[in-house]
Amino acid sequence: MLGALLLPLLAAGFTEARDSWERANERAGRALSGLSLEQKVGIVTGVGWTKGPCVGNTSPVPSIGYPSLCLQDGPLGIRFAKGVTAFPAGIQAGSTWDINLIRERGKAMGEEARGLGIHVLLAPVAGPLGKIARGGRNWEGFAADPYLSGIAMKETIDGIQSVGVQACAKHWIGNEQELRRETISSDIKDRELHELYMWPFVDAIKADVASVMCSYNKVNGTWACDSDDVNNRLLKNELGYRGYVLSDWNAQHSTVQSANGGLDMTMPGTDFNQPPGSIYWGPNLTAAVRAGEVPEARVNDMVRRILAQWYALDQDRGYPATTINSWNLTAGGPDVQGNHKNIARTVARDGIVLLKNDNNALPLKKPSSLAIIGEDAIVNPAGPNACPDRGCNTGTLAMGWGSGTADFPYLVDPVSAISRRAAADGTTLATSTTNDQAAGASAAAAASTAMVFINADSGEGYITVEGNAGDRINLDPWHSGNELVAAIAAVGKPTIVVIHSVGPIILESILAQQNVVAIVWAGLPGQESGNALVDVLYGDVNPSGKLPYTIAKSESDYPTIVDAPNDPFTEGLYIDYRRFDALNIAPRYEFGFGMSYTTFGFKGLDISSRSARGGNGYGNRNSSGIAAGPATGRRGPGGRQDLFDIVATVTATVTNTGRVQGAEVAQLYISLPSSAPETPPRQLRGFVKLNLRPGQSRKATFELRRRDLSFWDVALQEWVVPRGNFGVQVGASSRDARLTGTITV
Ligand code: NOJ
Repeated sequence: MLGALLLPLLAAGFTEARDSWERANERAGRALSGLSLEQKVGIVTGVGWTKGPCVGNTSPVPSIGYPSLCLQDGPLGIRFAKGVTAFPAGIQAGSTWDINLIRERGKAMGEEARGLGIHVLLAPVAGPLGKIARGGRNWEGFAADPYLSGIAMKETIDGIQSVGVQACAKHWIGNEQELRRETISSDIKDRELHELYMWPFVDAIKADVASVMCSYNKVNGTWACDSDDVNNRLLKNELGYRGYVLSDWNAQHSTVQSANGGLDMTMPGTDFNQPPGSIYWGPNLTAAVRAGEVPEARVNDMVRRILAQWYALDQDRGYPATTINSWNLTAGGPDVQGNHKNIARTVARDGIVLLKNDNNALPLKKPSSLAIIGEDAIVNPAGPNACPDRGCNTGTLAMGWGSGTADFPYLVDPVSAISRRAAADGTTLATSTTNDQAAGASAAAAASTAMVFINADSGEGYITVEGNAGDRINLDPWHSGNELVAAIAAVGKPTIVVIHSVGPIILESILAQQNVVAIVWAGLPGQESGNALVDVLYGDVNPSGKLPYTIAKSESDYPTIVDAPNDPFTEGLYIDYRRFDALNIAPRYEFGFGMSYTTFGFKGLDISSRSARGGNGYGNRNSSGIAAGPATGRRGPGGRQDLFDIVATVTATVTNTGRVQGAEVAQLYISLPSSAPETPPRQLRGFVKLNLRPGQSRKATFELRRRDLSFWDVALQEWVVPRGNFGVQVGASSRDARLTGTITV
């Protein structure tokens, strides 16, 4: 009997997690049957802003052992806590293109959340996706590409949930800028909604993410958290999502419409600013049920979804008590850092992108003297946490600002890390750690090489920093960074520019300086900033990061902030490299670009339309061959399950052809056949990071799933594999194709 039940499940590729969800769902159903309406409403309604130890808290139900659920930010570590790790930001993790590292980072964040008794970690971020380069919160997510973002979502969720913490995929959906974020309508057409903005959420749901946070903005005219269309139709029905939808903080705008529209939990339960606060659920939801406006079955469904995730992640068994105290940090729980500084350093280091390196200026080889210039080389003299939620840009930049921040336990700045190395090497340092040009120039004059530190910051819109209300006001470096670099370069020494940035900046002025010989894109490295940088500057570790977005020559090459009630998303499918490729715009540094101290060769492209044995876990392994036409599989987490079938395998051999060890990210881009509707010329559909000794070769294996070869057919309302010849490009960046081939369907 049992065997007969299990067999079809196994054949259909069910995972253990799915089995445990089935059991958890049954347990949730049983627990639910004993609850009063008021208890159920308490499970779905936050207790109010600052009314509990976490940024979000719900009412406990002791009769079933259910606690006050603790929901806490955020995507780079635990917000409002001492004794936690300030990890590199999401964009730095994306910049590593290293799935193992991304998963380890997620796991370490999960361990810290668990250690403090946090049930739901409000991470990771797939929206904003980053269509607007100036968008204030792009750095919280992983990449301006849905494929890379989706893989990073899955790995981070797997990491967080592997230690029994519920993850939260946010922000669903279309929250691409801070300006007007609580009123703007993101008017996103069906195809780009599916092919760009929903894509990484599909990976999150396929990974069984416990919760999804609906966003502040409207989508096609309706607030996301009140929208039947985005929550019921798209998320729960089309994508087969079985977790719960929780609101961003005060992103709910109705009692009945939100409940019937698919929202399952409201946060924080009251308005931030109007005590006792407007409250849409709580007693108002109870009343709406009694009045017959919201079926009690809908409330049962909310509770069942929430309890099922709590059971599925074993949080009913010995989960640590909540000890975090967001409003009194010194009264908070234990130090939970463990050895996570190692993973923080590794991600920071492997996310560094070397953009320019003339005549092997780097790595440094025991220089006799070196000038370190710029305020970005030192920690804020008032301390790394001097500004609440990192809402200032003073000293070295290691994360953006807003709710997606954590307190630094310490911040290793570039100047102290370089000083230690210089002392060991016998290098004389000349330092000028302000942005004063004259002082910087005299430091440069006193050394054989000059290193200039500049940055660009952004964050969440509730804080304005130096005129930047979340979104950036331009794509220039802050604090006259271009002028500082020009003044230093004019001294005449070989000049190395190190940049900490939330996203693209326009580098044309810097590149126009003849003496700028190297540019190190150090991103948003978190607490281990200086150590990670020294690893790369001195060649202890070869740089291996690749840009997770395009750096343009001109700001006008990107879609920009919309200051209007509606954002019509006129750029359609053409964001980031898709836009540059389609419009024939030459980027300065393209998506996927990054240099190394060694060189790599690519050879032996092999394409087979049969699935390989083994696999990376992104697809089902029970299929072979490619059938043109629409997906037809049953629906499950992530949507139609045949979309995850591996339909083709591409391999190539990558060789380290240089003299030092290094890692290359082999990238696969697909072009759809001409029978498909107009589509970006190439789209990332695979990547593999390979660490290679000099002379060593390894095979890169890319498994293409049905979804990777499909477009969203708006007439059919289905993913479709078009007939014809698909272009396959394997190489070192989006514009550095080394091998090309064809898949014929
Ligand atoms: C608003 C932010 O948009 C969201 O990301 C965060 O989790 C909540 N505030 C709670 O702080």
